[in-house]
Amino acid sequence: MERRLEAEVMDGEEQVRAYAQADFSQENQEFVDQFLDNFPDLREGSLLDLGCGPADIPIRLARACPSLSIIALDASAPMIAMARAAVDEAKLGDRIRLVCEKFQDFQLPEPVDAIISNSLVHHLPNPYKFWYALKHLAKPGAPVFVMDLLRPETTEEAHALVDQYAANEPEQLRRDFYNSLLAAFTEDEVAACLAEMNHSRMLIDVPDDRHWIVTGRVF
Ligand SMILES: C[S@@+](CC[C@H](N)C(=O)[O-])C[C@H]1O[C@@H](n2cnc3c(N)ncnc32)[C@H](O)[C@@H]1O
Repeated sequence: MERRLEAEVMDGEEQVRAYAQADFSQENQEFVDQFLDNFPDLREGSLLDLGCGPADIPIRLARACPSLSIIALDASAPMIAMARAAVDEAKLGDRIRLVCEKFQDFQLPEPVDAIISNSLVHHLPNPYKFWYALKHLAKPGAPVFVMDLLRPETTEEAHALVDQYAANEPEQLRRDFYNSLLAAFTEDEVAACLAEMNHSRMLIDVPDDRHWIVTGRVF
């Protein structure tokens, strides 16, 4: 099935509310645990989360690593407003800096020690910009952990995944999940981006029926 683009930035009020209210606690904790397991040397310094959404992952990471300083970036103003409320409630405003900006325009005074990103890449019309940005936003040797959805082969399969994993979710969330599956990349497409960008120290894995994960280091 051909890729079908969805809107890049999630800035619809209802869409943001549905996403922020959804319970991704298990998936998000697994994301954090896997990142920490993969990179036991990374417990302090600076980390950048690209497309942070409501900041649940940066909050979990900040709690797990009290010496880590996090920049959480999202291009959506309503999403960053949700993130701000969550970070303030967690009393982590001194350790999580929220930035409302597209990563394509974002510049840092010095590159960070690690980059993570969950469910951003499928939003992008041009994924090469993402894989290229890692090179100048992170230090050489910096850990990278990126997860996203995997595009199914047919729309029927996409509907079946929505029914299987979001059966009781609000209609807005189910619609967004479906559109995201159709906008997602295949394993081969992601592998082609890594090869094209010379990310020779990054590997793609497909851990289940709807996700891919890229783990490795910037060089
Ligand atoms: C599906 S959400 C994932 C949020 C979060 N990472 C999580 O796991 O819950 C994707 C987010 O990426 C943001 N986004 C899309 N394109 C972006 C860009 N070019 N720069 C920064 N953020 C972007 C969207 O606004 C949205 O909040």
